[in-house]
Amino acid sequence: MSTLENFIAGLPKAELHLHIEGTFEPELMFRIASRNGLKLKYNSVEELKAAYDFNNLQEFLDIYYSGAGVLIGEQDFYDLTWAYLLKIHSQHVGHTEIFFDPQTHTSRGIPFHTVISGIQRALEDGHEKLGITYRLIMSFLRHLSEEAAFQTLEEALPYQSWITAVGLDSSEKGNPPSRFERVFAKARAEGFLTVAHAGEEGPAEYVWEALKLLHVSRIDHGNRSLEDVRLTEELVRLKMPLTVCPLSNLKLKVVNDMTRHPLAEMLEKGMMVTVNSDDPAYFGGYMNENYLALAQALNLTQEQIAQLARNAFSSSFLNEKEKAEQIAKIDRYVGQQKG
Ligand code: HPA
Ligand code: ZN
Repeated sequence: MSTLENFIAGLPKAELHLHIEGTFEPELMFRIASRNGLKLKYNSVEELKAAYDFNNLQEFLDIYYSGAGVLIGEQDFYDLTWAYLLKIHSQHVGHTEIFFDPQTHTSRGIPFHTVISGIQRALEDGHEKLGITYRLIMSFLRHLSEEAAFQTLEEALPYQSWITAVGLDSSEKGNPPSRFERVFAKARAEGFLTVAHAGEEGPAEYVWEALKLLHVSRIDHGNRSLEDVRLTEELVRLKMPLTVCPLSNLKLKVVNDMTRHPLAEMLEKGMMVTVNSDDPAYFGGYMNENYLALAQALNLTQEQIAQLARNAFSSSFLNEKEKAEQIAKIDRYVGQQKG
């Protein structure tokens, strides 16, 4: 391993933008499909992986939803989540805030309870056995109706102690945050925090809407914010976290070349940027691979890399004491590396 690779691998990290359905590795997908008596459209892991060649967000989403379609029982959701936790444990990710998309499953007749209890049970085990702290974020699918989102929010209320925030994902273009203003208002009134995907493929205007109408605590992606000088200034002023996903951006052609990734300009402008893996089973890497690809392409220094990791803890939904403890761990690590 190179010095850079080593530094990233050992750095204590937090992940803030991760779709649990996007951690579904082909091998596990085939295993779960087979135990549920289901057949995938593809005959082998290799054939499935060969289909992971996307030109845009929608081409990815079509495959992502079809893969998630083999998840049926509580144990399936547990196994999916547990495999992810084992993986990030090996990468020194000590805290994770994960999205789940209940509508992907309830629309197929899988009870909300089945989905959330499998995920939650794995998260509790991950905390107890691996020491990983977590938050759970319920994401509404923005290609579906406002009414469907309201219904999902109702279904979530009995599980509120397990869910910290609501989010907004799926097909962005043509589905602005304004369509979900009322359901987000209700979610906030119920005590949920809010985040939203914005400015991945959609325009800077959608980022404004996420701020002004959905009152988000973080913007997921946010790449296209840089097209609007006033918005960029506002995000800096608010210290609004952006959960950037480098390998996702490359795979979905949001960015054509990692050396031109907007994170360089975001850092330069003083924006609160973080690095995340989004859907690692589909995009070619978990946290270490995302940090490494970015650091190599943008020639980041160890201090800049450590700052990205500090940003993630400070942008998380941990309390102030927990944040300070985690950031102190990073400072100690950086000190030892210099030492
Ligand atoms: N964008 C929108 N929706 C998603 C994504 C994404 O990157 N990943 C999973 N659902
Ligand atoms: Zn995402």
